[in-house]
Amino acid sequence: MHAEETLVLVKPDGVARGLTGEILRRIEAKGYTIVDLRMVTASRELLEAHYEEHQGKPFFEPLVEFMLSGPVVAVRVAGNRVIEGFRSLAGATDPTAAAPGTIRGDLGRDWGVAVQQNLVHGSDSTLSSERELGLWFA
Ligand code: RTP
Ligand code: MG
Repeated sequence: MHAEETLVLVKPDGVARGLTGEILRRIEAKGYTIVDLRMVTASRELLEAHYEEHQGKPFFEPLVEFMLSGPVVAVRVAGNRVIEGFRSLAGATDPTAAAPGTIRGDLGRDWGVAVQQNLVHGSDSTLSSERELGLWFA
């Protein structure tokens, strides 16, 4: 059986703070498989496609600007129920509210800027993961 796959991004704050290794460590320690990995300086076009569901929302432009602020690490991760499992490892979107034990809860905080800088992205459905993996690993 073909294992489920998800797209994880270590966002620019995670890369800049030197947390890429710690985030990858948690994915591997959980038992998931890193299938492919690349460091990317994303284009605006790529980010607007990646976050297309959020176009028109007030945080869309700050979100794209944040994601353009430095390189990101894109990771193809595999394992049974990895989409749900990585979202659980990542924790809630707001790092202040994210539970201790999660990536965002342990390593993130509110920096008082226009959009939450929350270290990681994880696909939220099989439809999203297929679409997003196609964008980042074209
Ligand atoms: P992501 O896609 O980045 O992994 O995060 P997520 O699923 O936890 O959150 P999502 O709803 O997809 O939102 C994407 C990013 O937009 C910012 N956001 N701000 N002010 C707000 O209500 C709000 N909602 C979302 C966050 O930076 C979030 O990571
Ligand atoms: Mg999302």
